[in-house]
Amino acid sequence: MKILVTGASGKLGCYLMKAQGVEGCSRRSFDLTDPAWEGYLDKIGPQAVVHSAALSAIPDCLSRPEQADLVNHQASARLGRWCLQRGVRLVYVSTDMVFDGESAPYDETSLALPLSEYGRSKLRGEQAVLEQGHLVARVALMVGPALGSGQSYYDQLVVNLRAGRPVSLFQDEWRGMISYADAAEALLRLAAGSGTGVVHLAGPRLSRYEMGRLLAAQLGSPELVSAGQRSDHAAPEPRPRDLTMVSRRRQELLPGWQPRSMEEQIPAWLA
Ligand SMILES: NC(=O)c1ccc[n+]([C@@H]2O[C@H](COP(=O)([O-])OP(=O)(O)OC[C@H]3O[C@@H](n4cnc5c(N)ncnc54)[C@H](OP(=O)(O)O)[C@@H]3O)[C@@H](O)[C@H]2O)c1
Repeated sequence: MKILVTGASGKLGCYLMKAQGVEGCSRRSFDLTDPAWEGYLDKIGPQAVVHSAALSAIPDCLSRPEQADLVNHQASARLGRWCLQRGVRLVYVSTDMVFDGESAPYDETSLALPLSEYGRSKLRGEQAVLEQGHLVARVALMVGPALGSGQSYYDQLVVNLRAGRPVSLFQDEWRGMISYADAAEALLRLAAGSGTGVVHLAGPRLSRYEMGRLLAAQLGSPELVSAGQRSDHAAPEPRPRDLTMVSRRRQELLPGWQPRSMEEQIPAWLA
């Protein structure tokens, strides 16, 4: 099956591109806000699309809400229409940030109430592609080394810990952290499979502090990580407190698939 990945140069995109036979495009190929991309995609002729491209940085979405809407919502709606007209399967990569963090755990039927411009633009994108009969995969906070040129949150943490610099990480904010590798595997399986609607892809509930302690322990310096509080940091937008996600649909759509624990993956990342 010919699968096309949008956002192939991104952190998730680089993991998606590791799979055999997957084709990718990024902004260097075409800008999704420029309708000329339709001709480009017609030439590739994919049978399924994993739509990972997004304006994904939360501060960027806050400072450029029109651009966030153009990329995350309007371009997704146009891509969804293109797919619908050609019978191409679309998996829209969404986020746990569509929830407000006050009623975890969230399953696929939970009410989405985003607190940020990013979350709102992704939710509008979700709604557009769901109306077209596509699949939305809401992914939790992804963790792991970046394969491309940029650095991930995980990479920055490891750089600091390896340099012996103390770090303070939120103890009172939780995410169902999942590795980029596990999320990419699940998304490609979803693209090759069937089923529409919403599905959640998340790992076990962890705070950034707990994640940092796991890393630091593996590096032999757990004392470098201290527990920070959300109230210590003023944020321009409210931060969801607990975005733990569970799934009612995982067994149906991804039989046998299970995200690995961080404890299982960290030693290989640090090796
Ligand atoms: N990171 C997370 O923890 C997380 C969690 C849940 C969901 N998600 C979702 O997962 C997806 C990937 O996230 P990520 O962290 O890998 O993002 P990322 O590293 O910021 O990558 C975003 C990708 O989108 C492309 N892109 C941005 N604007 C574009 C445009 N106008 N036209 C064409 N391509 C454009 C970028 O191309 P350039 O490189 O050329 O800019 C890049 O390839 C996003 O949909 C995000 O909402 C992420």
